[in-house]
Amino acid sequence: MAEETGTLAERPEQPLPPVRDWPAGELSATEFEPVLAELMREGPLTRIRLPYGEGWAWLATRYDDVKMITNDPRFSRREASVRQVTRLAPHFAPRPGALAWADQPDHNRLRNAVSAAYTVSAVKRLRPRAQEMVDALVDGMVADGPPADLVERVLEPFPINVVCEVMGVPVDERQKLHDWTREIISTAGGAEASEQAKKGLFGWIGEAVRDRRDSESESECENDSNGDHVDVLSLLGGAVRRGELGLEEAISVAGPLQIGGEAVTNNSGQMFYLLLTRPDLLERFRDDPASRPAGIEELLRHIPHRAAVGLPRIATQDVDIHGTLVSAGDAVYVSYLAANRDPDVFPDPDRIDFDRDAGAHVSFGNGPHFCTGAVFSRMQIELLIDTLLERLPGLRLAVPADQVPFRQRTMIRGPVALPVTW
Ligand code: HEM
Repeated sequence: MAEETGTLAERPEQPLPPVRDWPAGELSATEFEPVLAELMREGPLTRIRLPYGEGWAWLATRYDDVKMITNDPRFSRREASVRQVTRLAPHFAPRPGALAWADQPDHNRLRNAVSAAYTVSAVKRLRPRAQEMVDALVDGMVADGPPADLVERVLEPFPINVVCEVMGVPVDERQKLHDWTREIISTAGGAEASEQAKKGLFGWIGEAVRDRRDSESESECENDSNGDHVDVLSLLGGAVRRGELGLEEAISVAGPLQIGGEAVTNNSGQMFYLLLTRPDLLERFRDDPASRPAGIEELLRHIPHRAAVGLPRIATQDVDIHGTLVSAGDAVYVSYLAANRDPDVFPDPDRIDFDRDAGAHVSFGNGPHFCTGAVFSRMQIELLIDTLLERLPGLRLAVPADQVPFRQRTMIRGPVALPVTW
């Protein structure tokens, strides 16, 4: 358990643990990253150096510590956005106003501007429309006949389509947004193509927010009480008009929300890979639909969603964790993946067990930066599982499991393609 002391300055110097290099290695399918497994064994707090950025950072892997650090304002995201903290990503260009890099009170202000679009009730209202979208994609795949690439036909276009709906992208603009988003998330086109696509997307978002700022009435975009019109671009347009957000901030908030569907593509890609390579799990889901909600939570807990670690925080004060001094100014990472495998919270953590209570997992993060899209993602995952299992009872891999290609040298892990037949 993490603890606090007020007298750290008086403590004698303590030896620091060694700095461990954490290179970006090739990872196979859904294996748990071996370096992370070692770091978990080495201690509650270790020190790491990632391929880019400067210096080293602390890494917390135990569940309680991860929860404490992510919910403690002494660890700042804003401070981390203005430093070259050791990191996995080669490029680092945080946009001012991005939710992920904001501290309170800005973070609340930015997040409140869009939160109405991601509530349980907003997502519930969206569900029938999302069901139509997934049905249409499955119809197309079935009409063309097997084999098919499930990623290309369903797992990638579905989240992008649903995101466009939530954002309020007009139907005749969706193809353009779809193409930009694909370019940004694809690993194929290279850095320059991705930068161009980002420019296009952010420029388009800026114009859309400006239009809505100028053209819509308060009542249309302020809240969701009328039950149908609560799109993100209108919410942001209204917030900019009322002076709650700057236009650049609105663009910074909207960008990750527009691209966020990538996470569902890759996460559900890993989920279907696991189901299609573990007949026992697939059978359980098929024979016992009531097992699916808990099973999905267990799969979310188990899936190694990302490589290495996400975004760092900076300690703004000295903090004592298990007798180790984290000094003011030190960079700190947490691993949600490691916390999800903490044996004190999830016994026999490497085993996928649909009968365990996995609900306490931290796959969507914790604290103020908890994933904005968590309810929205769960809805999409449920629809994907229910629809594909029910409509394609014979769904299976069309190639041996070891021939499913997985993304490499990437932040978010998942299959590049999932060749299936039925
Ligand atoms: C943040 C996971 C889908 C938008 C996060 C965080 C995690 C996460 C671990 C970081 C928490 C932190 O910074 O400490 C996931 C997973 C997803 C998913 C596993 C899918 C299965 C989505 C989707 C969207 C989205 C679909 C948008 C539509 C965001 C945003 C943040 C975030 C905007 C930053 C929130 C903030 O800093 O306040 N997500 N996410 N995510 N996610 Fe997701």
